[in-house]
Amino acid sequence: MIVYDQTTRTFFLHGKSFSCALWVHPAGYLVGLHFGGPIGGDDLRYFDPSARELSFSPIPPDVDSYFSLDVAGSEYGSFGQGDFRTPSVLLVRENGERASRFHYVSHTICDGAPDLGVLPSARGGKTLSITLKDVLSEAEIVLNYTLYEDSDVLVRNAEIVNRGSSPMRLLRAESFCLDLAAGEYDVLRLHGRHNMERMPERTPLGHGSVKIGSARGASSHQMNPFLVLLERGAGEDAGVCVGFELLYSGSWMLEAEETQTGAVRVSGGINDLGFSWLLGASEKFITPQVAICYSAHGLGEMSRSYADFLRGHVLPENRVYAPRPVLVNNWEATYFDFDREKLCALADEAAPLGIDTLVLDDGWFGGRNDDLTSLGDWFVNEKKLVGGLGPVIEHCKKRGMKFGIWFEPEMISEDSALYRAHPDWAIGRADVPRCKSRHQYVLDMTREEVTDYLFARMSDILSRHEISYVKWDMNRHITEFYSASLPAERQGEFAHRYILGVYRLIRRLQAAFPDVFFEGCSGGGGRFDGGMLCFFPQFWTSDDTDAYERAKIQWGTSYGYPLSAMSCHVSACPNHQTGRTVPFSARGAIASLGATGYELDLGRLSAEEKAQVKEQIANYHEIEQLILRGDLYRIADPYQGNLFCVAVMSKDKTRAYVVGMRIHALPGDFDRRIRLKGLRCEQTYTVEELGLTLRGDTLMNAGLLLPRLPDFGSWVWHLSAKKNS
Ligand code: GLA
Repeated sequence: MIVYDQTTRTFFLHGKSFSCALWVHPAGYLVGLHFGGPIGGDDLRYFDPSARELSFSPIPPDVDSYFSLDVAGSEYGSFGQGDFRTPSVLLVRENGERASRFHYVSHTICDGAPDLGVLPSARGGKTLSITLKDVLSEAEIVLNYTLYEDSDVLVRNAEIVNRGSSPMRLLRAESFCLDLAAGEYDVLRLHGRHNMERMPERTPLGHGSVKIGSARGASSHQMNPFLVLLERGAGEDAGVCVGFELLYSGSWMLEAEETQTGAVRVSGGINDLGFSWLLGASEKFITPQVAICYSAHGLGEMSRSYADFLRGHVLPENRVYAPRPVLVNNWEATYFDFDREKLCALADEAAPLGIDTLVLDDGWFGGRNDDLTSLGDWFVNEKKLVGGLGPVIEHCKKRGMKFGIWFEPEMISEDSALYRAHPDWAIGRADVPRCKSRHQYVLDMTREEVTDYLFARMSDILSRHEISYVKWDMNRHITEFYSASLPAERQGEFAHRYILGVYRLIRRLQAAFPDVFFEGCSGGGGRFDGGMLCFFPQFWTSDDTDAYERAKIQWGTSYGYPLSAMSCHVSACPNHQTGRTVPFSARGAIASLGATGYELDLGRLSAEEKAQVKEQIANYHEIEQLILRGDLYRIADPYQGNLFCVAVMSKDKTRAYVVGMRIHALPGDFDRRIRLKGLRCEQTYTVEELGLTLRGDTLMNAGLLLPRLPDFGSWVWHLSAKKNS
């Protein structure tokens, strides 16, 4: 519910179990007075910071009583008027001046989300838009707050409009700023690297800033655009945490800043490193959305709120709850070394096991037999695939299987027909050597002729063949941030324009091919973010397919994202990334905690392993709706001990799927108990694998005994509520 109390000039935003109160100070400043647990509509002017004078805190010229932006809770930090914390916007005018002083002008309340153009956007809700005017310039700022009454997520973004007649330059344009009351806080972030994404790290905040981000032109493997502020004692199942998740896939930043009074400012959005944006007369700059999530019951509840929110309002509506393809991808089975016979043999093995889609990965186009060549030449290599894609697709069809294909649209190899024809289409200057990564350059997605070319090539492949699935990859980060098509004064816009170009192309292709299922990928999980999930219902979680490493990666990812967004495959052992051997059953169990699939040469499996594949797929079909819709409970943290365990619970708490792994076998470790979570206390449940029937409170408080397992051995329990109990 969004309420405006005209008498006190206070806005109240009431979500499912949080409230937010914003007050318009008599001089016009928009002051945040509360963000936290639910409150009523009381007069909160008691919290007016005017009452608490602090030396060295400047007073703006337009207030009578004591008031300083240095300590007031601000909803969009200004620069040069006494707010010495991180500003949300830096606006440079023609005379070089950059101070801003924002005053409330008006507000509207509308159904639905604001129009963000090509940027990803959450669906539904109700939006409060507050317009502020910069008293010192002709800029207007619109702050959007989209509220969902059934959710603890509040979506925010900001729009900056130039109402003057001369241009101004934005050096920073953040999506939001939220000032929280003084307290002892920790910060949790998900850091990593290629093959090791989204590792949780929690540290005390302390005075000063914890600033995280990516300046790689992609949200990145190295740091996920997600930050959680936790009250010091908060943990998995108790305590206050506030999450901040950007729905954005380009260079980004998030910052938590503990100030002199102990109050904390959290802010972020597009990374301002190298950023500038020329805002002409009447032009508007729209910032990406952030999803802010409040939980009074720890990280577990926060993650469940994020999962519900992303599924309900972000992941593509027509795909989110529909069964996902159970696929076999040929990458780890063959790498570049395949031909029609090998692919057909893979389909022959896959079909009887219950796999429904064959995905042809990298290497089917141009002259690509290794990663040195041909990106950009999206023409089928008919020397390698005699007769083209048609015979392979027909072969799959005959076996009742569908066909999917890999693209890496944003890239160009130096050794390609495309590069020879258009060297200036690669990012950076064509007349000086540029950085290579995986031997490739990045295409300039800010240019329409580039995205038109890609649309034409991809449409050609998709319309000529029966293709049900596309894997959209992106395998390097951006270096020389320079476009031959932008004027000098607009080069600072490049990184943001790049990602807008990517979004535009995805939107165009998805509109042209609504029946094709798109999965995202970026060297595994390098662009696993709320922006991409707006278009791709699932994302390849990591190139690391080792089940133990995956358990950790999927655990970390689950803090901010639903299981159904994680694409998880069973692969061969010794594992190609780590060399580790993990039991086949454990590989299946961990891969069942997401959109499952296979990525290995099925022909090399033993009869017993093939039988396991059949069982794994049958199990997956049985639990798929739990994975797509259920609530996740994290039970044993693989970063903290020798165990991994999670449970996925149906919304009505009648079914649960528990998956665990014991990392190392330990002698005598026979009295360890796994205490389940999220069950209904007085409900009786049957644990299928153990032949036990126990009450929910027994299962949660006394627990179940840890099974005896070898190194990296896994277990699975299916729980169902006993009728009439
Ligand atoms: C990336 C992807 C892999 C595979 C290769 C192909 O690394 O993450 O799954 O598609 O590219 O080159």
